[in-house]
Amino acid sequence: MCGIVGYVGKQNATDVLIDGLRKLEYRGYDSAGIAVFENHKIVIEKAKGRLDNLEQKMEETHRPTGHCGIGHTRWATHGEPSDVNSHPHGNERVTIVHNGIIENYQQLKEKLEHRGYSFLSETDTESVAKLLDYYYSGDPIETLQKVISAIQGSYALGVMFKDNPGTIYAIRKESPLIVGVGKGENFIASDVPAIIKYTKDYYLLDENEIAVLTQDSVHVYDLDGEEIQKELHTANWDVEAAEKGGYPHFMIKEIHEQPSAFRNTVSPRIIDGLPDLQLENLSDEQLKTIERIHIVACGTAMHAGMVGKYVIEEMARIPVDVDVASEFRYRNPILGKNDLVVIISQSGETADTLAALRLAKQQGVPTLAIVNVVGSSIAREADSVCYTWAGPEIAVASTKAYMVQLSVMYLLAAKFSQLKGTLSENEVRSFCGKLMEIPDLLETVLEQADNCQYFASKFQNARDLFFIGRGVDYSLSLEGSLKLKEISYIHSEAYAAGELKHGTISLITDEVPVVAIATQQALYEKMISNVKEVKARGAKVLLICREDAPEQKDITSYQLRIPLVDDILMPLLTTVPLQLFAYYTAVLRGCDVDKPRNLAKSVTVE
Ligand code: F6R
Repeated sequence: MCGIVGYVGKQNATDVLIDGLRKLEYRGYDSAGIAVFENHKIVIEKAKGRLDNLEQKMEETHRPTGHCGIGHTRWATHGEPSDVNSHPHGNERVTIVHNGIIENYQQLKEKLEHRGYSFLSETDTESVAKLLDYYYSGDPIETLQKVISAIQGSYALGVMFKDNPGTIYAIRKESPLIVGVGKGENFIASDVPAIIKYTKDYYLLDENEIAVLTQDSVHVYDLDGEEIQKELHTANWDVEAAEKGGYPHFMIKEIHEQPSAFRNTVSPRIIDGLPDLQLENLSDEQLKTIERIHIVACGTAMHAGMVGKYVIEEMARIPVDVDVASEFRYRNPILGKNDLVVIISQSGETADTLAALRLAKQQGVPTLAIVNVVGSSIAREADSVCYTWAGPEIAVASTKAYMVQLSVMYLLAAKFSQLKGTLSENEVRSFCGKLMEIPDLLETVLEQADNCQYFASKFQNARDLFFIGRGVDYSLSLEGSLKLKEISYIHSEAYAAGELKHGTISLITDEVPVVAIATQQALYEKMISNVKEVKARGAKVLLICREDAPEQKDITSYQLRIPLVDDILMPLLTTVPLQLFAYYTAVLRGCDVDKPRNLAKSVTVE
């Protein structure tokens, strides 16, 4: 939610900021702006809409030249997308960009209005900009210390003071911010893709730390003004990973990266044929005592947890609850002393998921985070972390991150089965062997892209669409449906196939197509009965089934067959055509696939 970038060095700051913001546009894209030191003044340019609008506006008016600046791409929370609500905010003395939400902005605003300040925008951010001005004593660090103690909420802030040209200040709380360390140039950014072209080295800024960047130095201070020595991190992927690499969209590139993402995540965790998750602070002895697992996540990550529930319960016979993080955190969950809370998050910054993690920790329950972004808040706060090695996921709609989250669910199921003895060592070995074959099979499924495009062309004009499935296929239906609605804007619902006739079947007509997922042999006949029910109401049906499933030409319009693996592994392969179907439907409908309306990646607000 909102992208921040800051640059100080020898290059043209506007160019570097725009380039960095382009890499962060997935975090928000309803307006953009930059502030650059030019001739000892802070010059601000901003515009509603995509970054291209800002570029065009600057072409027509003024493109600041200078070597130090901050930039922002916005996902509106307080105040509609408009030029005036766009960041940066501030005045000629102090200018800021902000990601997050200032919860006490109303009180701050009233206080400042009493002291003669007037406000131009509807944003919460402007209250921080004015507060900085109010507290400014000529000493930026002292001013920031005061501001940190006065503001409540979540924030990552990039700040420039007119009196200190060539210096950027940064602070953060519950919103991500890194400090990129280059040679003769330094950066701040919400995420690594913004700086990877210039440097792979960065510091993770912690809460209540103040970073001070000039072109030749980076200093980080604590709230008492004491300097802190930070650990330097190095990104383990390079610039190509953050580019489209010849694909028309990041989403399709990321769909195609799934075999390698799966391999990178799983291979290092199968040692001598057996699962070894190498979990720090969570020993096998501890895992053996676990009697109940709570998986907590949001959106697609939660859907991965639903598959996890099915797989872990089936294989290891440990009861698993799956919760939406925003519900879990407010429902006073019952957590026992032999429970494990598993938190799943691609970004590692999702506000509700982070709050759920903190709640579990407060209750003294061990926490395991499955996270894609190294050093993210969730990764840092959980007792133990299992990183998914998907590389940067840039498209807003999650695909490869979901795939690797699934892969960890399978590894966990294998590990618990081994520890609990619900499978013999040989059975666990054989299961791990089958997991290692998945990447090649994913390549085969990806060859079905043309078929998926064809099915998409048949369904692209639907106003409503249903996904139905039973058992683990129901979890996939939820994910297939979410993917379709978020990027193609077709209303769709996922339903447990057996539940349709308890009311919802009244919505099925010849104008409401159905995608029926039937990969589970034990449930196949039941699914076919449900397909017959919707077919009898006129629905066109796309059946997704195993390669060896009987022909169903009389009741289905289209069929998509998945290569044969054990039923329990089917979700890994079946996910791919659902992603491709959503992708091609969105493309055919002319939607902005990578940046769907109203959304942003990394939901750092509640
Ligand atoms: C949908 C999607 C979202 C995320 C959700 C959680 O395609 O990407 O539903 O899965 O916002 O995000 P993370 O995994 O970053 O916690």
